[in-house]
Amino acid sequence: MTIRFDNRVAIVTGAGGGLGRAYALALAARGAKVVVNDLGGARDGSGSSIGAAQIVVDEILAAGGEAMANSASVTDAAAIEKMVHFVKDRWGRIDILINNAGILRDKTFVKMTLEDFRQVIDVHLMGSVTCTKAVWETMREQAFGRVLMTTSSTGLYGNFGQANYGAAKLGLVGLMKTLTLEGSKYDIRVNTVAPVAATRMTEDLLPPEMLAKLGPETVVPAALYLVSDDAPSNAVINAGGGGFERSYVTLTRGIHVDPADMTPETVAARFAEISDRADELVPDNGSAQGQVALGGPR
Ligand code: NAI
Repeated sequence: MTIRFDNRVAIVTGAGGGLGRAYALALAARGAKVVVNDLGGARDGSGSSIGAAQIVVDEILAAGGEAMANSASVTDAAAIEKMVHFVKDRWGRIDILINNAGILRDKTFVKMTLEDFRQVIDVHLMGSVTCTKAVWETMREQAFGRVLMTTSSTGLYGNFGQANYGAAKLGLVGLMKTLTLEGSKYDIRVNTVAPVAATRMTEDLLPPEMLAKLGPETVVPAALYLVSDDAPSNAVINAGGGGFERSYVTLTRGIHVDPADMTPETVAARFAEISDRADELVPDNGSAQGQVALGGPR
């Protein structure tokens, strides 16, 4: 069945270029009314302009779609709330939020200032919190909402020179997990995409022959599925260049020992058993992990 977004209102942050632009164009082409949010700054987060968002809106309108531009920074709670009120006044609801806006301040940890760290956490993690918080009550009232977080292979697996970015990006997976639990009663589903794409963010990080295969449109199928009516919740999909995989936070079966054996020496002696990934679990929530720790089913 064709996935459509007719009568759905979507906000895509950081949609003036790169992946966000591709999501906005695709959502609009499938019937959604789209808010193209973008601060319009440089890759490191400096500067701002409405131009980038407006160009994408013009593209959508020219193709017969509906869209509006917004230049609020995702770090500015008051401006984001204002955007949400404006959208609700004009279009009546907010069904989809794609938290996509992001910046880079890459340096090795030894050279990274606390300010470089805070800025990146502020845009990626707190920006996503701010935007999600601004639409959450509306989604609860509607008993419908789809929220997409954007993580990265750096957050999931690490990358030299990106300690700030990796910390922020894995934080978003943690945010998704609890929001999935809190949103489920209201049909709010929260997922995460881990893209790899040729954008200004990666143009000097990846080799040209790789970039050629990694157009932002290759990530769009995963993002659109994860905000569709039949989306799962709590899923992390890695996407790019035709590849689609899932990432999980897993738990090994481990060991359970009596008090007399609860020593560092036991952990050292049985580290291989503790680490054995055979039959590993994916707990549905934190307390399920606690049950396993206390010697529950393993
Ligand atoms: P991009 O730099 O083309 O797009 C990011 C957009 O966010 C820009 O248009 C920028 O103006 C906007 N933005 C930055 N700060 C903002 C703020 N405070 N408020 C509103 N808008 C703001 O980069 P790309 O690659 O399209 O990145 C999109 C998302 O995907 C980011 O979250 C990035 O971390 C993530 N990502 C991208 C990967 C890739 O391979 N391109 C890999 C993994 C994750």
